[in-house]
Amino acid sequence: MKPHLTDAPALIVVFQQRYWLGADGERRKHYYVDESVGIAVGMLLSALHLSGLAALVHTPSPMRFLGEVLGRPVNEKAFAVIPVGYPAADCRVPGLVRKSLGQVLFEV
Ligand SMILES: Cc1cc2nc3c(=O)[nH]c(=O)nc-3n(C[C@H](O)[C@H](O)[C@H](O)COP(=O)(O)O)c2cc1C
Repeated sequence: MKPHLTDAPALIVVFQQRYWLGADGERRKHYYVDESVGIAVGMLLSALHLSGLAALVHTPSPMRFLGEVLGRPVNEKAFAVIPVGYPAADCRVPGLVRKSLGQVLFEV
């Protein structure tokens, strides 16, 4: 049977705050938002993995509905959906070909 996102016992939806929003509507730009949230998601994935949990990053397009469904403020933008849970006993993992270290690390 084809797996679905809702099979996972937990779905983490990560939002990024593009700007700070005051109660009076004042906006202040946030810097390095993509970089910061990307690093945070990477650390979260590592922590989940080290805890023995399975997780993956899903980025449906468009994701605007997530903010509406979850009632998030206008200064938050959905970044990723991360289903999390213990792997099923009969789960199968695709044999993806990974780049070698020499293909991603250039020493000078
Ligand atoms: C930022 C990001 C977004 C992704 N979005 C999707 C997606 O929307 N749909 C999908 O099938 N895979 C998506 N992937 C790929 C999978 O989440 C996953 O990285 C891939 O299956 C390899 O998983 P593994 O590194 O745990 O083996 C995305 C990966 C990244 C890094």
